[in-house]
Amino acid sequence: MELENRKVETPNNLKDLILERIQEFDLGPSHGKEHLERVLGFALQLQDKYGGDVDIITAASLLHDLGRSNPELHGQDSRDLSVELALGVLEEVKFPPQKIPKVITCILEHDQPENTPSSRESEILKDADFLSGLGVEGIFRIALWTGESREGIESLIDRLSEKMRKRIASLTFPESRLYAQREYLLVRMVLDDYNRGKERSLPEIDENRFHIVIDGMSGAGKSTLIENLSRYFEELGKGVIKIKEPGETYSKVRSILGPESDPYSNILCFLLDRMRIKTDLRGNPEESIILSDRSFVSSAVYQQLKGIPPEEGISPEEISFLNRVALQPSIIIILVTSPEEALKRIMRRHEELGIPLGKNETLEGLRSAREKFLSMSDILPTLQFIDTTDKTEEEVFREALNVLRKNMLIDFNQ
Ligand SMILES: [Fe+2]
Repeated sequence: MELENRKVETPNNLKDLILERIQEFDLGPSHGKEHLERVLGFALQLQDKYGGDVDIITAASLLHDLGRSNPELHGQDSRDLSVELALGVLEEVKFPPQKIPKVITCILEHDQPENTPSSRESEILKDADFLSGLGVEGIFRIALWTGESREGIESLIDRLSEKMRKRIASLTFPESRLYAQREYLLVRMVLDDYNRGKERSLPEIDENRFHIVIDGMSGAGKSTLIENLSRYFEELGKGVIKIKEPGETYSKVRSILGPESDPYSNILCFLLDRMRIKTDLRGNPEESIILSDRSFVSSAVYQQLKGIPPEEGISPEEISFLNRVALQPSIIIILVTSPEEALKRIMRRHEELGIPLGKNETLEGLRSAREKFLSMSDILPTLQFIDTTDKTEEEVFREALNVLRKNMLIDFNQ
């Protein structure tokens, strides 16, 4: 009794001590160290603003899921096991006995949306734990947990929709709610896509209408290739329509927004331009080949080259995803060349035709552009690359035709 009443100081390396001590528990893939550290991260941010005892919050965050070491236990049974195991750990790491009951309360109150936490520390653990089950992190972890529990897709979907919504509705702090709403939209998009996928059919290829995008570095030979392809298709008797970005709609909207418009608006101007083209082309069914000079791939590349932080702009993934509403390319060919050769061509154009030099048209800028275009295949694995270094116009044209034949399974001569 005497010992329990005596104030004991918390060991100053509490987090490391607990993490080391709980290594022996097999918490399973979904509730392991990554999860505990994430929960602790959220919890300490909330503590920083809303107060509460840091030691209790730290211990509760790291010990709240020990019961998950037995995946057969759920709900109260799992929480009871967490408490039992946590008591042992707290004693071993010499946690102040006077604070132990508060840690236990946090663990007992943490994972039921209908429970009302009885202390600040409890409120914080509950919010922090729910936050670590949202967004992509939530999808990964919940999918793992569903598998660990030997349950299937239906149960996973129930957890991602019904249960996650209830958890979000029960959050205490406004920061948690804002974070949760943003992350939950990602989850809804995944669910929406999954549901649509149930009756998903393959896209229909219109044998008489192709949209070929030629994109890539400045000075790699895009315009020349487009001219050669255009002539070739016209000689075959096909209708050809050429599109060059940025188009008319882009220029009009940009002139309304002015030169200082933000990067996000700029990306949306391009998208608007492409959507407009899609609508315009609906009235031109006789055109069988659409040749585009540049596309959303350039938007994604140049956005990165401007060095705009993600919170101000949008990521290459988002730019590519947004393009779903625009005219879909049948194929995208990216031309790259050595930065030296590109610069030589750009300078020639500049001197002979007076075309002004772009911001990225330096050796360094072209090197970065080349790198970024090549890295777009991480996001878009169907991109086709042609390296035009040391190749003649005719060689590039032949190579492009081969790429088209091979990828579109079509013999244009027919
Ligand atoms: Fe948890």
